[in-house]
Amino acid sequence: KLTIREVLKEYKKFIDQDIVIEGWIKTSRSSKNIGFIELTDGTSFSSLQIVYGDDLENFKDIEKYTISSSLTIEGKVVESPGKNQDIEIHATKITPICLSQSDYPLQKKRHTVEYLRTQAHFRPRTNLFNAVFRVRSLAAFAIHKFFNEKGFVYAHTPILTSSDAEGAGEMFQVTTLDLTDPPKTDGCVDYREDFFDKPVHLTVSGQLEAEIMAEAFTNVYTFGPTFRAENSNTARHAAEFWMIEPEMAFADIKVCMDIAEEHIKYIINYVLDNAPEEMEFFSKFVDKGLLERLHNVVNNEFARITYTEAIDILKEAKVEFAYPVEWGIDLQTEHERYITEQVFKKPVFVTDYPKAIKAFYMKGNDDKDAPDRPTVAAMDLLVPGVGEIIGGSQREHRLDVLEAKMKDLKMDLENYQWYLDLRRYGSVPHSGYGLGFERVIMYITGVSNIRDVLPFPRTVGSCEF
Ligand code: 4AD
Ligand code: MG
Repeated sequence: KLTIREVLKEYKKFIDQDIVIEGWIKTSRSSKNIGFIELTDGTSFSSLQIVYGDDLENFKDIEKYTISSSLTIEGKVVESPGKNQDIEIHATKITPICLSQSDYPLQKKRHTVEYLRTQAHFRPRTNLFNAVFRVRSLAAFAIHKFFNEKGFVYAHTPILTSSDAEGAGEMFQVTTLDLTDPPKTDGCVDYREDFFDKPVHLTVSGQLEAEIMAEAFTNVYTFGPTFRAENSNTARHAAEFWMIEPEMAFADIKVCMDIAEEHIKYIINYVLDNAPEEMEFFSKFVDKGLLERLHNVVNNEFARITYTEAIDILKEAKVEFAYPVEWGIDLQTEHERYITEQVFKKPVFVTDYPKAIKAFYMKGNDDKDAPDRPTVAAMDLLVPGVGEIIGGSQREHRLDVLEAKMKDLKMDLENYQWYLDLRRYGSVPHSGYGLGFERVIMYITGVSNIRDVLPFPRTVGSCEF
């Protein structure tokens, strides 16, 4: 028994041989005494043409087999006279495994991505989603390969946490308590009666734990599911997404950007090399010009500007922004798009953001020239079409500075002693970043909605299945 991938890869080897193959009907058509089935088994983006004649005793039945029925095909591999494929199979026997019910929704017509999101079982069988999910798999492998080749240790950070890594309060709570009727003390939920004796959440980032691991292994990375209860119903936010978080000891923000740039280029190159058919498909049907753009990305340096320079560029722009531009604002999607799509037309690192809009752990800059505008050693990578795909920073490794900052922010220091300990015992300058996996997949495939790069999307107001 062979997969379609195996047959197509070395098809010359199989010509004139009898083989057995299993798969699902993608399309089917027939005339008086000959029929054609496009068979897919998902091992290859290309399907395999099966030709059958009325010498098969069940010819009349086969003609009526519905789309997506599963079949076993026995037949001979022959060179195809058609120009769309090198080979085809002349079937000697076609046996159904399970015929699809006649109401199978995948007819030849095109379905909207919105409709397909509601059809879990056949969504990954469509060309678009089949291609996206294979690219997801390849990109994940490329990420592990990249860090492995550099000697980074893959650190597994917890999904259940009792700290808020981003300090943004956008966490999903985990509890065994019946929250419609929780035990209460002074009107508050009494977590002493719960599993962990305290409030526990799904992680928003593995960074704090990755920092601990980095100061034992120097270079580590995490790659896992991440959860955010952000109430943003946009095409770029999911409640459950995957994040890759490298963390490097003895490294400053510049090292961090260099690695990030190399990292993004590596993933793109790997996918271009290993998914040529899928990438061709995206470039034809999803985003014209995609391939040319990606080739430009891997062959050119990313731009690097400071936040203050970004604000100056935006102020000089002859564009009316909906959200007014002034030093201190968080850059909005429209601003990010203007900078990447109108000005640089390529990925742009923006560094040194105002302290007030970034997370507590970021290292303060020495803002001697502008003490009234304190900044931190942060960097975001913005790309055309998607916006922010990376957020990172150098970490505050000075105990006194970090403690003072956390007190300022009224954080519960008691809860973070384990994190502060890292600054007590052999603290070193260290940096890292988080790459949003779905966002980089959007960038590589040209797919514009985050829901459509997730096999089972979870977004605000939506958790199907
Ligand atoms: O910028 P963020 O919030 O940074 C952190 O979480 C840091 N702790 C990372 C670090 O330094 N180790 O998130 C990092 C990236 C974003 O740039 C974005 O690509 C992605 O994670 N991201 C999301 N992707 C999809 N849906 C969401 N709701 C996302 N929130 C962040
Ligand atoms: Mg960010």
